[in-house]
Amino acid sequence: MSSRIETIKVTGGAPLRGEVAVLGAKNAVLKHMVAAMLAPGDHVLDNVPGIADVAIMGEVLSHAGATCQREGNSLQITVPERPNPEAPLQLVRKMRASILILGALLARCGEARVALPGGDDFGSRPIDMHLDGLREMGATFELSHGVLRGTAPDGLHASDIYLEFPSVGATENILLAAAMASGTSTISNAAREPELADLAEYLNKMGAKIEGAGTSSITVHGVPGLEPANHRVVPDRLEAGTYALAGAITGGAVTIIDCVPDHLRMELRKMAAAGCEVSTGEDWVTVAGPERASPVDFATLPYPGFHTDMHPQMVAFLATADGTSIVTENVYAARFRYVGELNRMGADITTDGQHVVVRGVDEMSGCEVDGCDIRAAAALVLAGLVADGETRVVDADHIDRGYAGFVPKMVALGARISRT
Ligand code: EPU
Repeated sequence: MSSRIETIKVTGGAPLRGEVAVLGAKNAVLKHMVAAMLAPGDHVLDNVPGIADVAIMGEVLSHAGATCQREGNSLQITVPERPNPEAPLQLVRKMRASILILGALLARCGEARVALPGGDDFGSRPIDMHLDGLREMGATFELSHGVLRGTAPDGLHASDIYLEFPSVGATENILLAAAMASGTSTISNAAREPELADLAEYLNKMGAKIEGAGTSSITVHGVPGLEPANHRVVPDRLEAGTYALAGAITGGAVTIIDCVPDHLRMELRKMAAAGCEVSTGEDWVTVAGPERASPVDFATLPYPGFHTDMHPQMVAFLATADGTSIVTENVYAARFRYVGELNRMGADITTDGQHVVVRGVDEMSGCEVDGCDIRAAAALVLAGLVADGETRVVDADHIDRGYAGFVPKMVALGARISRT
């Protein structure tokens, strides 16, 4: 069945100006929802964005026996005493992050049956580090008919885990499992993402004893049980960064409020190097775009490096820069499908292994392009804001997975954008 239902139409040429507020981070709230499964009872998460991925994670939790009820930007999660330790393929297929329930279910139920996620447009995206970590804590796994069955009949025990790469998901899966394992675990070369630090903060409110989250060395003193808690989700730095670049690419100026500019330091530094004027307060940032961007090189890296999920949007910005920029993608093996789409709009971008060479062109022109994934779709809309004529981003429903109210927010900033 074709998924090309949603199209976003953008007409280029209008400078974006004004203020836009961001909500909680997709890549935090999805993990917080899973973390709630560790403690039976009522949890309330605040600042929860109305995005498709939250709804899908709600289905994953419902399948496991929890109920999720949204009221405004609050999400109440009621977790049962005895969860159903299963995440089936129809849900895991919709969203890879469903795999995060593995560690939580093993910790709560001593077993978990989770369908194995496939690859995606970024390459194969294995989960070997998740499984190795959980094995070191006493879990065993068996793959049969596409379903991974994990067991830890005697519970999980603490371990000293040294990750080969600071994988966000592996760190989180291990953290969730370690919170209730017997003894003290350490995770070395852990991911340092602010969303992960926020997850640890929520778990600590639930009674966990986690130290060092947000650094590459995390210590988890396992506790026998956790209590429900309420938590406000950390603001979405990717949503903030995307609106900053949306303003900048048009030569306009956008102020993003309710965000944490400190979580975007590297991205803002590169925007400034490309000629943007950047001013920040504690919870706001204004980015004003130059008449024409200067070329700038950057390499994606785990936090606090330049975020891979800002890579396509930054390349869209640099596509009309006055010179050549070199971008190196270090997090994913293949995140370049959007490149061909930008080239259809007149960009001059080539890839060579992990490198992207962006030769700035004088102008781009609108056409039909394919939204490929969340950040690619955002990048193509950004390009459409400056392209001559109309750009139609098909498969644009990817945007809904990561950006709540994207089109109305852009309209409020002055973009000529609509959805069909
Ligand atoms: N990797 C392995 N083995 C593993 C785990 C990861 O080889 O066991 C590799 C991956 O294949 C990838 C790299 O390590 O090449 C980084 O993967 P990581 O585990 O850090 O990413 P993730 O947890 O799967 C999260 C975000 C992504 C974001 C990455 C990197 C969520 C739900 N997803 O994915 O977000 O790109 O971290 O920061 O948190 C997005 O929001 O658009 C998005 C794709």
